[in-house]
Amino acid sequence: MSNVFYRAVNKELLEVDYGEGIYLYDTAGKRYIDAASGAAVSNLGHAHPVVLEAMMKQAGKVAFSHLSRWTSKPIQELADLVAEVAPGDLSKLYLVSGGSEATESALKMARQYYVERDGQSSKYRIISRWKSFHGNTLGALSMTGDGRRKKYTPLLLDFPHIAPAYCYRCPFDKKPESCGVECAQDLERCIKTEGAEYVAGFISEPVGGAACGAIVPHRNYSKIVRQICDQYDILMIDDEVMAGFGRTGSLFAIDDFEVVPDLICAAKGMSAGYSPLGAVIASQKIYDAFKQGSGVFVHGHTYGGNPLSAAVALSVVRVLIKDKIAANARTVGAYLLNRLKETLLRFPFVGDVRGKGLLLGVEIVKDKTSKEPYPLAKGMAARLTQTLAEHGVIVYPGTGNADGVNGDQFLVTPPLILTKDQADELVAAMRDAFTAFGKTI
Ligand SMILES: Cc1ncc(COP(=O)(O)O)c(C=O)c1O
Repeated sequence: MSNVFYRAVNKELLEVDYGEGIYLYDTAGKRYIDAASGAAVSNLGHAHPVVLEAMMKQAGKVAFSHLSRWTSKPIQELADLVAEVAPGDLSKLYLVSGGSEATESALKMARQYYVERDGQSSKYRIISRWKSFHGNTLGALSMTGDGRRKKYTPLLLDFPHIAPAYCYRCPFDKKPESCGVECAQDLERCIKTEGAEYVAGFISEPVGGAACGAIVPHRNYSKIVRQICDQYDILMIDDEVMAGFGRTGSLFAIDDFEVVPDLICAAKGMSAGYSPLGAVIASQKIYDAFKQGSGVFVHGHTYGGNPLSAAVALSVVRVLIKDKIAANARTVGAYLLNRLKETLLRFPFVGDVRGKGLLLGVEIVKDKTSKEPYPLAKGMAARLTQTLAEHGVIVYPGTGNADGVNGDQFLVTPPLILTKDQADELVAAMRDAFTAFGKTI
């Protein structure tokens, strides 16, 4: 009997021994392709020598100092590097320890920004989308739009959600030919209903992640959102916790949508799993409001800005830039997407294969034509994930896509160092797993 309180207390887990590049090895010596990168985290793969060296060097100097009293070279250099590569005038780095802390911080920063700017303000609500995931702490979960909310509804903030940008199951029943990006226009309807004087921000993932299986919005989606946010004096918050730092084929996913948000939330790929770290990257306008206002963001977490995590992230971001890792994610991602489409769409239970860069998703359906999902009780996502693991492939499953309860999907988010040969190896293993799984339905 273990004394670990696992997430799923009745589930049997693999026991990891070590990792190397895109592979993980269990304690029995079996090798797996980490096609989940944990949860889109290990973007440089496992045991990257440059990052390990930076980590050891900083640990030997000083691992922890508190941000209320100490600054350090690693955080300053990290902030300068991020300012160089971040979109537009986004340049001020607020450091925390993970994705939920980042989105939670953005929520509070947005609220306090209006108080600093206007003296007092009624603006506090954050609008988000259904089929989104912004984290599990209560503020972040209030913005999240998926089943992770259900058991905690009484504890959540009363924040509104708009329609998802979900072309495969368009909530407005549009086809590409008739699409007027109604899902983006839905933001304006929501703001008018709520009253702009109560709304501080709109948060969204530039390419959807854990709650939807790599949904890529219409190419004009973010531009329309930016225009609506400007019109109603609302901050545009770009949650790149999963999509950022190379995963979609650009350092920031929003760059491809030609828009500059007011705040970016980052985590995961920024330190690539070598040390917990998250951040909010703020525009000059927001920073100035704090500087010219009270001068204090009334917030903070103990480990935010610790020198060890910052030194790790600094080495990760340097490797990302020097080795052109985002460009690799773009090229190998496009190759892998094509290969997955030609291989998996042949199976009768695969409805859609989609994504951008190496943020890819596969949606499972009972009927390809009607897109009817399997009932949740059939456990398709979990069972298929299990079969894939037996064939040496780890993916990231999710449910609720079709109607909030039923509808299975999984993410394919391998490390961004994936080569074309490794992509072929991954597709071959997945084809074998799908063939075996098909016989069990
Ligand atoms: C888009 C997005 N935002 C926020 C989070 C929460 O991050 P964390 O699990 O590090 O708290 C996640 C995690 O998957 C995410 O994908």
